[in-house]
Amino acid sequence: PFVVTEACIQCKYTDCVTVCPMDCFFEGPNFLVIHPDECIDCSICVAECPVGAIVNAAEITPDQAEFIEINARLANDPNWKRIRRAQAPLPDHEQWAGVLPKKHLLR
Ligand code: SF4
Ligand code: F3S
Repeated sequence: PFVVTEACIQCKYTDCVTVCPMDCFFEGPNFLVIHPDECIDCSICVAECPVGAIVNAAEITPDQAEFIEINARLANDPNWKRIRRAQAPLPDHEQWAGVLPKKHLLR
């Protein structure tokens, strides 16, 4: 499956959800995740993300590898809801777009 990584945190542009044929994105306060059992590996969401946050789990870099587990866990968290439509990015998205690390800010 494809995986949302650290770059999404505090930005949450949501362009990705508009193209997903499976509607398999789930939303939390400052991050989105992909449900690994629903993603069909079409890859069309990758190019939509302005900060390049979406990667193939099979090609993930070691520093982002923990996001495979994070996507799987949060997609099944009852507090995280399926998101089907784009919405405005988070208010400080421009400030956070180029910032790493920001893993510690994931809520
Ligand atoms: Fe959806 Fe395709 Fe992206 Fe998987 S790779 S999350 S199915 S758009
Ligand atoms: Fe996040 Fe990029 Fe989607 S910032 S919400 S993965 S478009």
